[in-house]
Amino acid sequence: MVQNVITFYVYFSAGEIMEHELMRIGVSLPDNLLNKFDSIIESRGYSSRSEGIRDAIRNYITQYEWMSDIRGRRVGTITVIYDHTKRGLSNAIADIQHDYSDLIKSSVHIHLDHDNCLEVVIFDGEGELVKEMDERLMALKGVKYVKLNTAPPAEKI
Ligand code: NI
Repeated sequence: MVQNVITFYVYFSAGEIMEHELMRIGVSLPDNLLNKFDSIIESRGYSSRSEGIRDAIRNYITQYEWMSDIRGRRVGTITVIYDHTKRGLSNAIADIQHDYSDLIKSSVHIHLDHDNCLEVVIFDGEGELVKEMDERLMALKGVKYVKLNTAPPAEKI
């Protein structure tokens, strides 16, 4: 499916301290993604698209920093939504899970609709490996959503 790509400009501050030093970058997005984003920022009351993008990028950075902190034994889940009609994708996901079979305790798969599947992987193991598995799943083309939830093992809570 060919999607229209829309390019627009976002102003970024060079640092949190100097909010006035804004840098301008061009971003190209498929129109459906931009339309969804616009409707969300409108309903959340953002004053501009740039402000919404800045917030989204801050959240992305926070999430990355949070993930960088995952160490030691962790338990939790990785939820993946993907398009199983993408050639080779189901196999690629299975291959990754087999690479981390020591970590994975269980998984649940449901067929969401004609094209999409939801899989929840339940793990217990070294956080660094969990993060690695999560990042490999996220990098696959056709994977639409990956959400990692972790907690320390019960004795540490
Ligand atoms: Ni399925």
